[in-house]
Amino acid sequence: MTTQIITIDGPSGSGKGTLAAKLAAHYGFHLLDSGALYRLLGLSLFKNALLEKLDDENALQQSVKIATNLDIKFVSTEQGTQVLLDGEDVSQTIRTEQVGEYASKVAAIPALRAALVDRQHAFASEPGLVADGRDMATSIFPQAKAKIYLTASAESRASRRVKQLQGMGLDAKISDILANIQARDKRDMERTVAPLKPAEDAYIIDSSTLSIEEVFNLMVNYADKMLAK
Ligand code: DC
Repeated sequence: MTTQIITIDGPSGSGKGTLAAKLAAHYGFHLLDSGALYRLLGLSLFKNALLEKLDDENALQQSVKIATNLDIKFVSTEQGTQVLLDGEDVSQTIRTEQVGEYASKVAAIPALRAALVDRQHAFASEPGLVADGRDMATSIFPQAKAKIYLTASAESRASRRVKQLQGMGLDAKISDILANIQARDKRDMERTVAPLKPAEDAYIIDSSTLSIEEVFNLMVNYADKMLAK
């Protein structure tokens, strides 16, 4: 039997992270937060002073090596998932807007995306996987039985993000966040490699005016049907 896979793709702030974690818990499946991989790679390249030099062939080669050998661990704790990079807890750091920017830069470079593919495939194991990202259905797991595309208006995503950052004790201005979201959407949707777009057979949900519970119920109804096929 092939591993059951549910993919959730969509722009940042659509609620993917929360919903993917809830779905994984509901089905008892593993969880892949692929955005975290891009964030970790962005942070690592920044720390190695390579992020601004990616158009240099040598620097790119070095960066690919770093991507392939990235020392990362996802540890489940009662508070959520703890993320370690080279043994250091970077769970909070990788969620900052700054590191989101690093990730978006990294994500636009084909050689770096390619270097993360095997690592993502390795998450697909029994009893199943919920994979959260931008290209989960279109590129990494096209064989997934259930493919969800979760979107929401840029404004509603910005206001959710501000609340999330404030909840983490971080300062946030809605106009800055909205501008960031719009710029990142544009970059993610217009890049030539694995652009953000729904798979042809994706189930599209717009969460702008829906609660987490409402979105969750729509997802479970759909996934139950698809996984039973
Ligand atoms: O979902 P997120 O905000 O953590 O993603 C961070 C960045 O990584 C975002 O700019 C899009 C990119 N990304 C990607 O290109 N492909 C993925 N599968 C996941 C994230």
